[in-house]
Amino acid sequence: MNPNRPTIIAGNWKMNGSRAANAALLDGIGQAWSALAHQAPSCQVLVCAPTVYLSQISEHIQSSVQIKSTSIAIHLGAQDVSTQSSGAYTGECAAGMLKEAGCSHVIVGHSERRQYHGETDTTVAAKAKAALAQGLQPIVCVGETLAQRDAGQAITVVSAQLKAVTDLLQTDAARIAVAYEPVWAIGTGRTASPEQAQEIHAALRNALTSARAAGVPILYGGSMNAANAQALLSQPDIDGGLIGGASLKPADFTQIISAAHALRAGPH
Ligand code: 13P
Repeated sequence: MNPNRPTIIAGNWKMNGSRAANAALLDGIGQAWSALAHQAPSCQVLVCAPTVYLSQISEHIQSSVQIKSTSIAIHLGAQDVSTQSSGAYTGECAAGMLKEAGCSHVIVGHSERRQYHGETDTTVAAKAKAALAQGLQPIVCVGETLAQRDAGQAITVVSAQLKAVTDLLQTDAARIAVAYEPVWAIGTGRTASPEQAQEIHAALRNALTSARAAGVPILYGGSMNAANAQALLSQPDIDGGLIGGASLKPADFTQIISAAHALRAGPH
């Protein structure tokens, strides 16, 4: 990571949770953080939850005694957004609605949406634009499949995915965040090595610099956990994490926040 760029630790809860489980998870993060340290984390902490729970979570963060009594600020993100602002789009949710529900961020172009919902680079770019128009920071996901990596195409694939977004957004590209999530590392327990991840992050950083968006944070996602977070986050172009499974366990998620916090604080 680089202290000149924001550090973001984001949990992607995917399609998990219930009203009771959400409250317990959030309170657990607050409790685990206060047991570790009393200062506010020097990184941005975010949970991206299923749409139907966003308002509940927003209210819980503001009212929970456990969270309010700790120094942790938890921001809220959605997992998808419509390209449209309103109208006859059954099942969709507009960026303005997410904002009203308390979101500051939204994930766009997650590989599970590309894979199961046919989202193209063009759709993903339009979603990022729709998010920014309402003041939400899109976390634009890119990543190659195992076959693409084995064919030596990883950098080509992620560069094309990113270019679709930066070309559409132009100067607004500086306001996004990017997440590199190799598809073969998601939910598999198989993490990219810090060197493998850094290689791709450096290529993405070059592409962002060419697009006059050098300050955009690039998160790593794919089986990040309490044991490997420190090594990944130590890489110069890894500015945070987008965490699936481990974000559902308060102790693990908090340890990842703690690793980011320690790296940002630097040696004492
Ligand atoms: P896992 O951390 O469960 O591999 O999921 C990563 C991910 O897809 C985050 O968006």
